[in-house]
Amino acid sequence: MKNSSCEDKREFQAYKEFSGLTRIFHWIRAFSIFGLIFTGFYIAFPFLQPEPSPQPTNFLQAYVRSWHLFLGFALIGVSIFRVYLFIFDKTSHPERISFLQCLSPRVWIDQIKAYLLVGKHPHIEGAYNPLQFVTYFILAVLVLIISLTGVVLYYNVYHNGLGAVLEICFKWFEVLCGGLANIRMIHHIVTWAFIIFIPVHIYMVVWNSLRYPNGGADAMISGLRYKKDLKV
Ligand code: HEM
Repeated sequence: MKNSSCEDKREFQAYKEFSGLTRIFHWIRAFSIFGLIFTGFYIAFPFLQPEPSPQPTNFLQAYVRSWHLFLGFALIGVSIFRVYLFIFDKTSHPERISFLQCLSPRVWIDQIKAYLLVGKHPHIEGAYNPLQFVTYFILAVLVLIISLTGVVLYYNVYHNGLGAVLEICFKWFEVLCGGLANIRMIHHIVTWAFIIFIPVHIYMVVWNSLRYPNGGADAMISGLRYKKDLKV
């Protein structure tokens, strides 16, 4: 394999796939979801308790709850802005055009064949293949559900200020779900959907990075993807 690195340099051309904000938001959401899973499970089952003390200190559970809310509202804020970028940002064009391939059965079949190692990877226009696009769309719906249920749990504890405003805005969702007990159950079950998504997502990113020399996982750090330069 002589000169393979030089040849690669000539055959592939770098282009910008993800803007700086898209990448920063990806990592804020990733770390906040990690934190929310840990703090959420602690809220569900507070297995650690500080030594009882007559002093008003040692509020471990309250601190963990505060972090859950802090990360929860960070996730909500960043996710709203992320949807805005997807729809309106000029540099999110590669993401938007990937939607069109979801309408092509040919690309779906070829993509599934590539994943099953029985076919070549189809030519993909834009940032995501159809399977990726649908998976990320479902993830966005899950973020919406966990955020709505989280907000309902929040305003049922804090009845003034933000809590009062959120209650007016989202009471309908609590009613739609059949009450607070169901809301808590849905919030807990959707947590498991995230727990299943994370290892599958990481596995697929690593698998793609190793199999196809187009930048793979690096793209969410550098923003760059590599395409075969047809002019060479
Ligand atoms: C990926 C995102 C999230 C995960 C994985 C998650 C996970 C959890 C879990 C497992 C619980 C415990 C439920 C139980 O009692 O069984 C919980 C409680 C809670 N979550 Fe989340 N959550 C997320 C996002 C949010 C968001 C966006 C908010 C909104 C601010 C939020 C607010 C709350 C509140 C208020 C509680 C109840 C706290 C209490 O009972 O004192 N969560 N969360």
